[in-house]
Amino acid sequence: MENKRPTWSSRYSFILAAIGSAVGLGNIWRFPYVMGQNGGAVFLITYVILITTLCFVPLMAELMFGKITKKDCIGAYEQVNTKFKIFGFLNNVTAIIIPSFYFVIGGWIIYYMIKSFVNFNIENPVEYLSNFIQNPYATSISTIIFLFICTFFMARGIKKGIEFVNNYMIPLLAVILIVLIAASLNLPNANLGLEYVFKPDFSKFNSQTVLTAMGQAFFTLSVGTGALLTYGSYIKEDKCIVQSAYTIIFSSILFSVLAGIMIFPAVFSFGLEANSGAGLVFVTLPKVFMQIPHGGIIASAFFILLFCAAITSGISMLEVPCATLVERLKISRLKACIIIFFAVALISIPATLSFGILGNIKLFGKTIFDILDFSASNILLPLNSIILCLIAGWFLKIKGEMIFKNDIFAKIFDIGLKYIVPMVLIIIFYLGLR
Ligand code: PFF
Repeated sequence: MENKRPTWSSRYSFILAAIGSAVGLGNIWRFPYVMGQNGGAVFLITYVILITTLCFVPLMAELMFGKITKKDCIGAYEQVNTKFKIFGFLNNVTAIIIPSFYFVIGGWIIYYMIKSFVNFNIENPVEYLSNFIQNPYATSISTIIFLFICTFFMARGIKKGIEFVNNYMIPLLAVILIVLIAASLNLPNANLGLEYVFKPDFSKFNSQTVLTAMGQAFFTLSVGTGALLTYGSYIKEDKCIVQSAYTIIFSSILFSVLAGIMIFPAVFSFGLEANSGAGLVFVTLPKVFMQIPHGGIIASAFFILLFCAAITSGISMLEVPCATLVERLKISRLKACIIIFFAVALISIPATLSFGILGNIKLFGKTIFDILDFSASNILLPLNSIILCLIAGWFLKIKGEMIFKNDIFAKIFDIGLKYIVPMVLIIIFYLGLR
């Protein structure tokens, strides 16, 4: 009776869901602008090296942790030692804080998507964005709609909800991305954008490149929230997860690169700035959409793309507290989703309003949105990952030989898990706090 936990229908469903979690705004909204601010191709190279080496270790550890314990985050840590329960709790806190700012951007995407369906005629994108984000009603309602969609599908359960969404949205996302790339590459001077993505300028490389690429890699892989632990806990016994980990890493790189190939040729073709920061998608691209033939349709396709990416990731974050509430409090999934809906709404509304009427509320010079982003990305994610590696390596005794047939790889993995990755993460954690 004990084990009435849901499981994925197939290995394919699990991989698709894990890709859905990994591929999100981090790849399509954040990656291009962070790359733009950090020197283009040289950032891409650093990101690829880190994600395939250092990040592989905690990714594997988190999936194995879930697969071995078959519990929600708190239960999983408790199974290793009751004193470790607190770390599972920390995962849950992270998985509530990240959506609280992630869904704000999700709300913006919904608003722009609807705008593109109606009439994408934005004369002055800077002014348009600034008017919108300062409008408390429009932004709050958009965020709540985004949150509602995520919790609605979550409430339907693993198979009817999460698998259903991923089965449709990931292929749709891939198709739209390819169509948009084709459109972007057909613009005059598209090669300048391609050069920017692929031709490294090593003079732009510095320690900040490594730090930012590392943070980006963790965020895009969804490592450190417990989302992969929870998804991993729904894997059936016989399913092999090593290839799944490779697939997650590969798709994360692929979608980030494809997002760059979609965005930068268009940006360069119109002589716009590649390093315009977070506004790249909401300010720079609308300028492009306004100037190209069928710009309205292309804008719709683009915002549907962002919407799909954000929803599949958003659901995976919320699955962490959902599994915890269902398994710890023994309540129904529906009740858990309602609680989560209100908890996330309570934090994300002030975050939404921090671009407007609550903009004056600041702590250490940061707005509510920035505080949530900073505390999750710079503190909680690395901290959770350090704890995860140490506990998986020293207490749960996850070993490289469970993963690799090759002894040398197995040994490297062991050393990575127990020493190298925690040490590197501690350094990053320290630097990120300054
Ligand atoms: N990997 C997601 C992205 O790149 O947008 C973000 C994310 C999803 C972070 C799920 C954490 C998480 F648990």
